[in-house]
Amino acid sequence: MSQETWNDVDAYVAPQLARHDGALSGALAASTAAGLPEIAVSPLQGQMLHVLAKSVGAITVLEIGTLGGYSTIWLARAFPNVGPNGGPDGGKVVTLELEPHHAEVARTNLQKAGVADLVDIRVGRAIETLPQLVQEGAGPFDFVFIDADKPSGPDYFQWALRLTRPGSLIVVDNVVRQGELANAASEDENVLGCRRLVEMLQQEPRVTATVVQTVGTKGYDGFALAVVL
Ligand code: SAH
Ligand code: DHB
Ligand code: MG
Repeated sequence: MSQETWNDVDAYVAPQLARHDGALSGALAASTAAGLPEIAVSPLQGQMLHVLAKSVGAITVLEIGTLGGYSTIWLARAFPNVGPNGGPDGGKVVTLELEPHHAEVARTNLQKAGVADLVDIRVGRAIETLPQLVQEGAGPFDFVFIDADKPSGPDYFQWALRLTRPGSLIVVDNVVRQGELANAASEDENVLGCRRLVEMLQQEPRVTATVVQTVGTKGYDGFALAVVL
């Protein structure tokens, strides 16, 4: 099995199942044109976030790591009665982004997708904006997508626990890292962060969790999935 095969399967399935319309492809194109790194979730991964958010009936979503708002659009569209052409009928994504330029690009993309009113972008270091959310009494969030700097994953997970309720789902992206997750000798800070996260999930009595390995256009990676008890 190779990257070519994984690409072929994504190319076969995504056009059939992922509702990847002009607003989403436009968001990717505008993000690339604005110089943002091309690290958004793939269309099928965006569709998966959408399916998971819908499956918990999410009305409140917290995202850590906005980039150009591509995953944000998938999540906002999971709210009831929100679609490519449908009007907003409640629901809010709070999305945290360090880089003002990324946030600006995302704002335009969200507007073009017709979901800007459903999204609150908070610019700053997530380790500072997360406690602000707690202080404001924000949440509880039904669904949390953690997809920012990987060494901080365990910290973000603890804040996510303070901002969720029993039944909430928490997804942490990019934890398998081409299998490096299993490399006990790794000195890569990203890998170390993901290994600490798995250890935290093992010891954390407030969640039941798993890690799902994935292949596709984004290569070999995977995500952690936790349900709050
Ligand atoms: N969720 C996006 C991709 C996010 S890429 C998608 O799938 O479409 C990761 C983002 O996290 C980048 O935009 C980066 O600027 C942001 N980021 C990195 N460190 C951060 C921090 N400390 N606080 C908040 N955001 C951060
Ligand atoms: C990177 C970050 C991501 O969130 C991702 O999905 C893929 C790659 C990165 O920092 O390289
Ligand atoms: Mg990611």
